[in-house]
Amino acid sequence: MRTCRERYGSTFTARLGPSADVIFLCEPEDIKTVFHGTPEETNMGDINGLFRRVLGTNSLLVIDGEEHLRQRRLLLPPFHGERIAEHYGAMVEAAEEDVAGWQEGQTLTLQPHMQAMTLNVILAAVFGLGPGERRDRFRVLLARLLELNTTLATTLPQLRIELGGRSPWGKLMRCTAEVDELLYDEITRRRAERDRTSGDVLSLLLDAQDADDGQAMTDRELRDQLLTMLVAGHETTATALAWAFERLLRNPPALVHVTAELAQGSTTYLDATIKEVLRLRPVVPITARKITVPFTVGGRTYGPGTVLMPCIYLLHRHPGIYERPEEFHPERFIEHSPPPYSWIPFGGGVRRCLGSGFALAEMRAVMQTVLTRVQLAPASEAPERVVRRAFTISPREGARVVVQQRLG
Ligand code: HEM
Repeated sequence: MRTCRERYGSTFTARLGPSADVIFLCEPEDIKTVFHGTPEETNMGDINGLFRRVLGTNSLLVIDGEEHLRQRRLLLPPFHGERIAEHYGAMVEAAEEDVAGWQEGQTLTLQPHMQAMTLNVILAAVFGLGPGERRDRFRVLLARLLELNTTLATTLPQLRIELGGRSPWGKLMRCTAEVDELLYDEITRRRAERDRTSGDVLSLLLDAQDADDGQAMTDRELRDQLLTMLVAGHETTATALAWAFERLLRNPPALVHVTAELAQGSTTYLDATIKEVLRLRPVVPITARKITVPFTVGGRTYGPGTVLMPCIYLLHRHPGIYERPEEFHPERFIEHSPPPYSWIPFGGGVRRCLGSGFALAEMRAVMQTVLTRVQLAPASEAPERVVRRAFTISPREGARVVVQQRLG
């Protein structure tokens, strides 16, 4: 992506397959135009179509237009600020539980630890599940589902052969059926409960009604949206956390600043650090919209069917917006906010990430807990390389660290 921008400028076409030309966009004004495209002009469900077989045909990721807006309206309230604050305790608890087992002198790969924490957090937030058999069953099955879903053999349509459940695709379908059984069981159990005051996402969704037609969500819709949240919500946040430690531990002045402020009960610098991590290592490096009518961006008109890709990764390194863009410098988010459409790790417009506030709160809770419980150092001096894992970018070694000291 960087080479293309250097060679062709901030708008370029990339051929990602024989009939898959996509237009990369890296200027804030162009990205704003795309994010402001109406549901009649742009869609996303088609592009995410490959998630349909696992996440379901109602998943927020694969629907468009009126139906998308209707489902999104129903799903938004559980992700409002005051609701997220109710989950903060569970976020801290998940981190405390994991960190309690870290030993002085031990070398750790953080990514799986972060993934364990974020999975517990999302299961607590969505279903109100705490430690126990049901949570364990979800954990095992979801981990398997994600693992199977990231292999090439399950993402390429031509390799989708069932072979009685023995091929990678067949295994994915079998695993999806097992997850379904668990999800429907949970939905049925909770529907039968009279008292739904627990404040978890499922309770709120069971009581949610569409403002226009008064319709509640069907079991099928609930199943698809719950699974979408579980899948979209935990690996992304875990990877962002792995990057946060990878970056922060290799920037000693920033680390000293964060820990000094945390000791005084302030998270201002930590919050700026999280923003800087998401700027330099945006876990989801690109997003996309397919246009359905002739659509003009930056003075150029594209025909229906064109895929426009706001490039989060390149925008965040724009030398006209960020001074010394490759440097890790959290202060840039304290001194002033970046101009609109210049910091977009969660996308924008009506498809903006549903869980952005949740993810930021979770990153803060986990980092604050870890940094006040243990002193960590990077396991190697060299920065970890960026590798692609399905649709995300991760640290190649999974963020390897050494536990130097327990801090009580
Ligand atoms: C650091 C963590 C996360 C990152 C970097 C991230 C990033 C993104 C991005 C880039 C998009 C596409 C937005 C667009 O195209 O404009 C997205 C969509 C979405 N995300 Fe996240 N996400 C994160 C965490 C979460 C969490 C915690 C949840 C749920 C609890 C979640 C649920 C969703 C959903 C449901 C969508 C689809 C929204 C729609 O199409 O209307 N994400 N996310």
